[in-house]
Amino acid sequence: MEEKLLQIKNTYLEKVAKAKNLKDLDEIFLALFGKNGEITLATKEFPNLPKDQLPKVAPLLAQIKKELETVIEARREGIREEGYRLLENEKLDLEGGKPLDKKGHLHVFTTFEKEVVELFEKLGFQRFDAPHIDTDEFNFGLLNIPENHPARDLWDTMYIDSEKFGIQPGKMLLRTHTSNSQVRIMRENKLPIRMMNIGRCFRYENLDARHEHTFEQFEIVYVDKNLSMANLQYLSEYFLRTIFGKDIKVRMRPKYYPFVEPGVGVDGECIFCEGKGCKICGFAGWLELAGAGMIHPTVLRNGGVDPEEYSGIAWGFGPSRILMLKYGIDDIRTFLSGDLSKLLKYEEEKS
Ligand code: DAH
Repeated sequence: MEEKLLQIKNTYLEKVAKAKNLKDLDEIFLALFGKNGEITLATKEFPNLPKDQLPKVAPLLAQIKKELETVIEARREGIREEGYRLLENEKLDLEGGKPLDKKGHLHVFTTFEKEVVELFEKLGFQRFDAPHIDTDEFNFGLLNIPENHPARDLWDTMYIDSEKFGIQPGKMLLRTHTSNSQVRIMRENKLPIRMMNIGRCFRYENLDARHEHTFEQFEIVYVDKNLSMANLQYLSEYFLRTIFGKDIKVRMRPKYYPFVEPGVGVDGECIFCEGKGCKICGFAGWLELAGAGMIHPTVLRNGGVDPEEYSGIAWGFGPSRILMLKYGIDDIRTFLSGDLSKLLKYEEEKS
């Protein structure tokens, strides 16, 4: 029993010395003297002790109890004093402090949007806006993705179902991509067409560093006679080289998108390792930067364009992804977080 008491004493003296705040000390006090505290329980064992031990153990316990109580109280006092000292040193500035170094500025999305739009204007593309709240027809059906077709699973969609407003379930949605502009662009403009559409898109995502429910997309619709994959390659190279300011290599890989045939993933040579392979590109040496292809004949027809006479290029990418790469932003949620400490940093790097 004596040994046990001495062990309790030593353990708790050490804990008290390490306590950082009053809460830690309260916890220590309870662990010793609370209903099931170690000292309380030790006292309860007294009636079971052999008679001759009691005269030794009882004064020892009383002494240890006193010592621990004194040490705890002294530490409490110490912590309070440290707190006062900190408060004294903390000055309350009622004069407003110095003005912020940085004034407000445009969001990185907005600056980038301007940059991209100007770039494509030079090639004769005009801006076109499509609705953010749209029908499943423009977002899917007319893009060769019929109702109940498994390809719809490629886009986790937020539908607007409100019988109160006479909206049938599954018919209205938040657009999942800027491709909802494709058929509208063809229907509303005279051929040949060079149009671009940039703006918000929405998906029912599981949020993490690479997935956000609200994000940006950029889309090109180019319809003319005799267009080919060569024009697509040129557009991709023109865009990526201007944005990354380097002579980066660009390649196309076959990829399935229901509204283009052939469809491709457009890859840029990894700007971090210059193609050698690194963590960021998953040791592939390439980063997927855009989706594109020759507009599917069915989609051209849906837009009122004769696929025998005209061909079309559709090309789209996510500005968020490109900006993340360009400025080394490691979490897509930063963009809409309002965290100026981060957003200002990227803006500084840019200028
Ligand atoms: N809309 C596609 C998506 O959100 C991206 C895309 C792929 C756009 C191919 C295109 C295209 O114009 O041709 O995943």
